[in-house]
Amino acid sequence: MKYILLFAVCSYGIALSYAKGNFYDGFKMYEVSMMNRSAARGLDYSTLSNNNSYYEVFSRNGVAAHILVHPDAQPDFLKLLNANTMNYKIVHNDVGLWLKHDFEMNQKLRNLYPYQGKLGTERYYSHAEINQFIEDLAKQNPTRVEVKTVGKSFEGRWLKTIRITNGDGRANKNVILVDGGFHAREWISPAAVVYGINELVNNYEAHAQLLQDYDWVILPVVNADGYEYTQISPDTRMWRKTRQPSSADCIGIDPNRNFDFHWNETGASSDPCSQTYAGPKAFSEPEAIVVRDLIHSLADRGKMYLTVHSYGNYILYPWGYIDLLPDTWEDLDEVGRAGGDAIKAATGTIYQVGCSTQLMYPAAGASDDYAFNAGFPISFTMELPAGGDNNFDPPPADIDRLVKETWVGIVAMAQKVVEKYPLN
Ligand code: ARG
Ligand code: ZN
Repeated sequence: MKYILLFAVCSYGIALSYAKGNFYDGFKMYEVSMMNRSAARGLDYSTLSNNNSYYEVFSRNGVAAHILVHPDAQPDFLKLLNANTMNYKIVHNDVGLWLKHDFEMNQKLRNLYPYQGKLGTERYYSHAEINQFIEDLAKQNPTRVEVKTVGKSFEGRWLKTIRITNGDGRANKNVILVDGGFHAREWISPAAVVYGINELVNNYEAHAQLLQDYDWVILPVVNADGYEYTQISPDTRMWRKTRQPSSADCIGIDPNRNFDFHWNETGASSDPCSQTYAGPKAFSEPEAIVVRDLIHSLADRGKMYLTVHSYGNYILYPWGYIDLLPDTWEDLDEVGRAGGDAIKAATGTIYQVGCSTQLMYPAAGASDDYAFNAGFPISFTMELPAGGDNNFDPPPADIDRLVKETWVGIVAMAQKVVEKYPLN
C-alpha cells in the first residue's frame, strides 16, 4: 500500500438513533496520533467503523485520527489506546454540549438574518431558502439565468438546477457542472456553491471569460432531505446519508456510493447501518438519479464536473474506485493544480491535489468517477477545509472567508478548463 495519507473524512460512523433528546451527551471526541505507525496499526479502524453505534471515525490521515466515542465505549477505547501505547488527546469532552451550543447559535442567526431576496455569507441557509434564492435570481435575470426542476428527493423536496449564461443566447456552449450538498452535514459545501452562483450571476462582468463559450449548470443541494435533517436539532447535526429507510433499523444510503460505476466495490459498505452504505442497488436514491441524468444530458458538452464536499483540503480526481490513474491524469492534475496553486497564492491555504484513491481512500460508486467515465474530461471532488467543533461546522463567522477562498480555486480551475477545451 502506497497511501501516505491513509484516510481523510467524509465517511464512517455512527448509526444515530433518531431524534431522541441529547443523543450526543457524554460523547467524547478523541484525537489519536498516527505518527507511531506500528501502534496505529493496532487501532483497527474497520472494527471501530463497523461498531456503528459506539464509534465514528471522523477523519484519519498520516498524522492523526479523530474518533467520536459513545460514553459506554470509552473505558474499552482507552484500554485499546493504552494497550497499543498510542498518544491521544481529548478534543471534546462533551460533544452534546457543543452541538447544542452551535444549534442555538444557528437559530439565533436565522432570526437575525431572515431571507430577504439575497443570500449572503452571514449564516447557513436551508434548502428551501436556496431554492427560493435561485428562483429569485431567475426572475431578476431572465436572459442569463434559468432554473429547472430536475427531480424530487425521497421526502418530496424539489431539486432544482440553475443554469447561468452570459445572455448572448448562443446554444450548445461547453458546460461546467457543479453540485454541492451530497453529504448532509457538510454545510460549507452548499454555502460555497451558493457563493459561486452569486458571483456568476451578480458579478458576471468579472467572469466574462468563464461565460463566453461556457454555460454553468449548478445543483446546490443534492441531498436535500439529509441537509434539512441536519438542521432540525443538535442530535441530527452529524447526519451524512439520504433519508430513505435502508433496513428495519437504519435509515439512509450514502449517495456518493450509489452510482453505477463499480458500484459496491472497495470503500463502500453493504451494511444498511453503515455511513458508507452503497444502497440495495445502484441508483436506489432519487437524488443520485438526478445527478446521473444531469451528467448524461450534459456529457457531450460537459468539460468539468465538480462536486463539492468537506473536509480535508483536497482536490481529488479519478480513479476513486481503484488505485489506478486514468490515461489522461496529467490533464486532471494540471487543472487541479491550477486550483490548488491559486488558493495557496490567495490565502496560503494548502490543498493537496491528486488521485482520490492515492491521496485519501478508495470509494467506489461515487459521482466523480461516474461523470469522468460518462465523458467529462475533467472531474473533481473538492474537499473544503474543516472548521468548528465537529469539523463539519465552520463557525458562521468563517463562512465568508472559506467560500471566497473556494471560489478562487474554482475560478482558476475553470479558467484552465476554458483554455484547454475551447469550444469547437
Ligand atoms: N469524501 C468523499 C466520500 O467519501 C470522497 C470521494 C472521493 N471520490 C472517490 N471516488 N473516491 O464520498
Ligand atoms: Zn462528503
